[in-house]
Amino acid sequence: MFQKIMSALSAMFVFTEEIARVLALGFTGKKNIIIFGPAGHGKSEMVKSVVDGLGMDAEAFYQFFGEGMDESRLFGGLNFRKLEEEKILEYYPEKSFLNHRVAVFEELFDAPASVLLALKDVLTAKELRNGSQRFKMRTEIIICLTNKEPNEISDLGPAAHALIERFPLQLNLKWKDYSAKSYLSMFEKVARRLDGPALNGFKAVLAEILASATSQGNFVSPRTAVHAFQVCQASAMMRGAKEVEKQDLTDLRFLPGLEGLAETIQKDLDAAMERATAEQKLTIAEEKLATVLAELNGTATPIKALQVAKKLVAFQDEIASLKVTDGLADRRKRLRDSAGENITKAQKLALDNTRF
Ligand SMILES: Nc1ncnc2c1ncn2[C@@H]1O[C@H](COP(=O)(O)OP(=O)(O)O)[C@@H](O)[C@H]1O
Ligand SMILES: [Mg+2]
Repeated sequence: MFQKIMSALSAMFVFTEEIARVLALGFTGKKNIIIFGPAGHGKSEMVKSVVDGLGMDAEAFYQFFGEGMDESRLFGGLNFRKLEEEKILEYYPEKSFLNHRVAVFEELFDAPASVLLALKDVLTAKELRNGSQRFKMRTEIIICLTNKEPNEISDLGPAAHALIERFPLQLNLKWKDYSAKSYLSMFEKVARRLDGPALNGFKAVLAEILASATSQGNFVSPRTAVHAFQVCQASAMMRGAKEVEKQDLTDLRFLPGLEGLAETIQKDLDAAMERATAEQKLTIAEEKLATVLAELNGTATPIKALQVAKKLVAFQDEIASLKVTDGLADRRKRLRDSAGENITKAQKLALDNTRF
């Protein structure tokens, strides 16, 4: 079950381990789940993908709750004919979640207390009991999605508090961090399923901008991040371009959370580009050093060893002039040190005739 759910999720989403785990437990053990946490983290879409991936779309019932929700809607609607002709209040439970094996409740705790109480009673009895009308609940699992935190829900009052106990599995869905690396890994996945102009190196630049906005208190949710990605694509499309370029990123100022960047966007953009470029150059340098060191290990003649030593000296010069941003100085130092050590090693090797 877990593997099946993981594969349904990992094609489209990142950071799916936890949600896959809790959904697998819920489906296997027939236990209700609350997935809570900040908006825009893929709660609705991931659950839908899993339901579809398990081939249960036809068995699933999706219900949006909210202030306008009432008991009759919860139980499939009021039978007006019966009410008018016989003065009896009956519902159409066969048209409600009660008649489905899987139920997905969106924002359940926004519903009025009367609805929460009615639901609690039905979940306890596993049956709708409404006067002479009875309907056995077929629902095996309810998955509730909410932006509210559990303690916030308990504070809503006794009805909500009692209901939440009918949801034994709870997951707080949020990212472990909102670093550029995290946004970037989402973009790598998103880029594979979205058509449109390519972002190439600008994926990393965009990730830097969003991470920096978040760290400055303008939280950029994963959903907004995907919108940002698409806005850059739209801007490139308007130019008739197949690739996103620097100027396309200035339209990010129209996105929520990024409007604060309006005045500084050019500066932020430059800084983000500088960071992304430095990161890229360092990665290239690291790969280059690895290649030269592999060459050193394979040297067969003193001349070859001297040639490698020469390459390493040139490499050291290159590294010294490489401009890096704050967080990357350590990585540059490691490269420089490693090159230095290996120059000595290569020179010794050249002089050590016994090896050849
Ligand atoms: N972990 C993730 N991996 C990939 N895309 C994500 C992820 N989280 C959110 N998204 C993007 O955000 C969008 C909104 O997700 P949604 O299901 O509406 O969030 P929620 O229900 O949590 O508010 C998705 O369509 C997807 O593009
Ligand atoms: Mg949602």
